[in-house]
Amino acid sequence: MPKIEMLRAIEILDSRGRPTVKATCSLNGGASASASVPSGASTGEAEAHELRDGDASRYGGLGCRKAVANINATIADRLKGHHFVDQHALDSALLKLDGSKNKNNLGANTLLAVSIAFARAHAVERKVPPYQHFADMIGQPLRTLPRPTVNLFSGGKHAGGQVVIQDVLVVPMSATTVDESLATVYSVYQSAIELTSKKYDVRALTADEGGLAPPFESIESMFDDAVGAIEHAGFEPGADVALAIDVASSHFFDNQQYHLGERSITSDEMVDTIKAWVTRWPIVSVEDGLAENDWDAWPTLCDALDGARTAPPILTIGDDLLCTNPQRIQRAIDHRAANALLLKVNQIGTLTEAGQSLSLARQADWQVTVSARSGETEDNWLADLAVGWAGNQIKIGSITQSERLAKYNRLLEIEAETGLPLADW
Ligand code: PGA
Ligand code: ZN
Repeated sequence: MPKIEMLRAIEILDSRGRPTVKATCSLNGGASASASVPSGASTGEAEAHELRDGDASRYGGLGCRKAVANINATIADRLKGHHFVDQHALDSALLKLDGSKNKNNLGANTLLAVSIAFARAHAVERKVPPYQHFADMIGQPLRTLPRPTVNLFSGGKHAGGQVVIQDVLVVPMSATTVDESLATVYSVYQSAIELTSKKYDVRALTADEGGLAPPFESIESMFDDAVGAIEHAGFEPGADVALAIDVASSHFFDNQQYHLGERSITSDEMVDTIKAWVTRWPIVSVEDGLAENDWDAWPTLCDALDGARTAPPILTIGDDLLCTNPQRIQRAIDHRAANALLLKVNQIGTLTEAGQSLSLARQADWQVTVSARSGETEDNWLADLAVGWAGNQIKIGSITQSERLAKYNRLLEIEAETGLPLADW
C-alpha cells in the first residue's frame, strides 16, 4: 500500500506565461512522480475554485505561491507518513483537508497537482504505464485510443474576438490510427495557412491553442474557409475530415440574448441558427452551443441536433454547462440537455470526482471528449488519462506549440506501445 514519503511543489509557468502549480510525490518504496496543472481562459462559472495569490504587483495577481505553500505545508504535513490504499483514499483525504464545497480553501489547482502526482507515483510503484493505471483506477480494460479533434481556427476569448465563436476543429473521420489522424490534420492545417494568408492578406497568426486566427468576416466564412482547406488538402469534407465547433456561447450571452456580432437573438433562434450550421456544413460535434445557465433551451438544442443527421450522429457537448461536475451532469442527463461530456479534470479538482463524472456520462450512454485547457504545460498526463479512461475523443488544441505536442506525441508513443484501435466516431 503506497505511503507518502515526500510531497513538494513549485510554481512554474504555463503556455500563456502565467504561473501554475507543479507537484512531486514520492512514495516510501522509492517511486516518485510529478504533475503540472493547466488553466482555462474561457472558464465556466461552476468550475471549482482556482487559487491565485491576488497580489497585483506580481503576475497581475495570478501568482500561485499560496497554492504551492498549501502543498508544501498544509497538505504535506497532513499526508506525509500516511498510507493510501488507492486514489479514492488519497482524494478523499484532500477533499477533507480542504473542507469546502468548491475547493475555496486550498484551491482546485492545488488539489489536482497532488491528485495526479500521486496517481503517477502509484503507477510507477505498480510498474504499469500511467494509462494502464488510469484504466485500473476505474476498473475498466483498455479499449481504444481517443480520436483527435484538432483546433484549426480560433475566435472568441482565445483570439482577438474577431468572430464570437471560439473554435473550429477538424476531425479526421476516415483515419484509422492516431498517426494517420495527425498526418491528415497537418495537411489541412497547411492548406488553411496557404488559403487564409492569400484571402486575408495577412501572415498566419495563431491563438492561445495554436489555432489560426485571421480576421474572418463572419462565422459563416470561418466554416467556409475550413471546408475550403479540407478540399484543398485533397480530402472529402464530412467523409474524410469533418468539423467540430466550440461555440463557447456563455461568453456572448447576456440579458437572455446571444450577441452574434451585429445580430442579437433569442435562445430558440440560436438553436435554429446552429441547426442551420450543421445542415449546411459537415459539423459532427457542437460544444456549448448554448450558454451555461440557459438550461431550459438545451434539451431543444439536443433534440434538434439529434434530428438533424443520423450518420454520423452529431454530439451535443457540454463544457461550461457541465464543468465536469457530477451534479450538473446528472441534471443534464435527467433533462436530456446534452449527449456528450467535455471532461476537464481541473474544472472539478480531483481524479476521483472526474472519474465520477465519467461514470455518470457512461451510464447515460454519452460520449466523452477528454480535453486540455487553453493554458497548458509541457506535461503529458492528459494523453494517458484519455487512453486509460477510453475517451471517445481528445481535444488538445492545434498541432503546433510544444504544450500541445507533448500530448499528441505521448499518444503516438502509446499507440506504438499498445497498438490499440482508434475509437469510432
Ligand atoms: P479554456 O477553453 O481552457 O480557455 O476554458 C477551452 C474550451 O472552452 O474548451
Ligand atoms: Zn469549450
